[in-house]
Amino acid sequence: MAEQLIITGTSKGEKYKELLPQLEALIGGESDLIANLANISAALRETMNFFWVGFYLVKGDELVLGPFQGPIACTRIRKGKGVCGTVWQEKKARIVPDVNEFPGHIACSTGSKSEIVLPALKNNEVAMVLDVDSDQLNDFDEVDAQYLEQLMRIIERSL
Ligand code: SME
Repeated sequence: MAEQLIITGTSKGEKYKELLPQLEALIGGESDLIANLANISAALRETMNFFWVGFYLVKGDELVLGPFQGPIACTRIRKGKGVCGTVWQEKKARIVPDVNEFPGHIACSTGSKSEIVLPALKNNEVAMVLDVDSDQLNDFDEVDAQYLEQLMRIIERSL
């Protein structure tokens, strides 16, 4: 696949709709997980203009920072801690409209105001989470959840 994204839509839904098959093709042509997660992070940030987007990988009893795009971030998160650790524990995606309202939120950057975190499962266990942060309050909705869930299913097929 060409190392270039083609996005013509202007609405959030249109952009996701065009992006997902291109990401699927990108992953399909490469077996290295880290390379794929790196390109997915870059593609999401470039297309959707997110403040921070990246993966935390389950390693033993912690989440460890993986490929990401944006300001530097915390490297390790324990199960049940912050939004990412909660999503790991609950195996369920979370939209946080205002990070200051989330008990135990881990503020890697003061610029982050809202976030969405989704898990990818392997053998019914969380293998990683995708964390997307916005510098705007209440920036994520069902459109993000729906398309990013599809993306996690695509990633799961490569695990
Ligand atoms: N806010 C996240 C930590 C990761 S950073 O935002 C990149 C959390 O509460 O889990």
